[in-house]
Amino acid sequence: MTDTKHLIIIGDSANMGEVADGSIHLVVTSPPYFNSPFDYPGLFESYKDFLDLLRAIAKQLRMKLATGRLACFITQDVRIEGKLYPVCADLIKIMVEAGFKYRDKITWKKPDGYTRISRRSGSVVKHGYPMYFYPDNIFEEILIFQNGKFNYKSIKKMPLDILEKSKIDIQRFNEERWFLSVWEITNVLPVPTRLEKGIAAFPEEIARRLILLYSFPSETVLDPFLGSGTTSKVAMILGRNSIGYEIDAELKPIIERKLSQYLLESKTEVEFIERGDMKRLRTFLQEKVSRRRSVTQKGKCNAAC
Ligand SMILES: C[S@@+](CC[C@H](N)C(=O)[O-])C[C@H]1O[C@@H](n2cnc3c(N)ncnc32)[C@H](O)[C@@H]1O
Repeated sequence: MTDTKHLIIIGDSANMGEVADGSIHLVVTSPPYFNSPFDYPGLFESYKDFLDLLRAIAKQLRMKLATGRLACFITQDVRIEGKLYPVCADLIKIMVEAGFKYRDKITWKKPDGYTRISRRSGSVVKHGYPMYFYPDNIFEEILIFQNGKFNYKSIKKMPLDILEKSKIDIQRFNEERWFLSVWEITNVLPVPTRLEKGIAAFPEEIARRLILLYSFPSETVLDPFLGSGTTSKVAMILGRNSIGYEIDAELKPIIERKLSQYLLESKTEVEFIERGDMKRLRTFLQEKVSRRRSVTQKGKCNAAC
């Protein structure tokens, strides 16, 4: 493992004043799932407020990302009380309006048995007639945007040791079918004792593939919605620097623990900055989620929820 630096800012990523323009080589992130009842109930006053945050992030990323480099968002449309909010379509529109090229979409398929909230499809079994079909959702999108043209000639000018370390493991690429636009990867299991409990963390394998495929060792990966710290942890393991923003001060100890597992093994520097605009969210959100869960378990939520 190489020497790397990791900066964690506990504060709102709508302001990325700590990051120099053009200094980021890759963005890997997953924004909050709007006001998703089982993750972020009531986090935003309105869907417009949520989209305004995405607009602010898009504007920042356009400045902070180096020319030709990529921003990868792992996200999904959100259903609240039967209404499906088109988060993916809106995010694509926002990023394109900010000046990015919409480069690719990879679908992250979770295991078939993944139905975390409710088996919506059970409605057909219960009623047995047409119009009762509500599919169970087992995927998320990885939306990939590019900030201008990448100069492929610049790769040839990179130091030989960096080029050597950057080589993609083609055997793994083939065996694990990275080449497809559908990646089958097990989600972070919602085990009560997990460090990431209640954080809607993405699997390390997604960050791993994106970082290996879209960045070079010693470069810097940014996550504007760091959550439990998955992006920084994987960047650290893969010899990349990282910068992460997380607004929730209650997640700082989780991020510290997640990163500390690797500090002993590698020559890394981790710096935390606590900003005045941080909030305390986790306990408040988790209490709301458990209140809602008890209502759902009493059968007050139908298949359209
Ligand atoms: C879906 S989670 C990210 C989970 C992360 N990918 C992981 O693996 O742990 C989104 C995170 O964004 C944070 N967040 C929401 N609004 C934010 C903002 N304005 N600035 C920074 N972080 C924010 C939330 O507190 C939450 O932890």
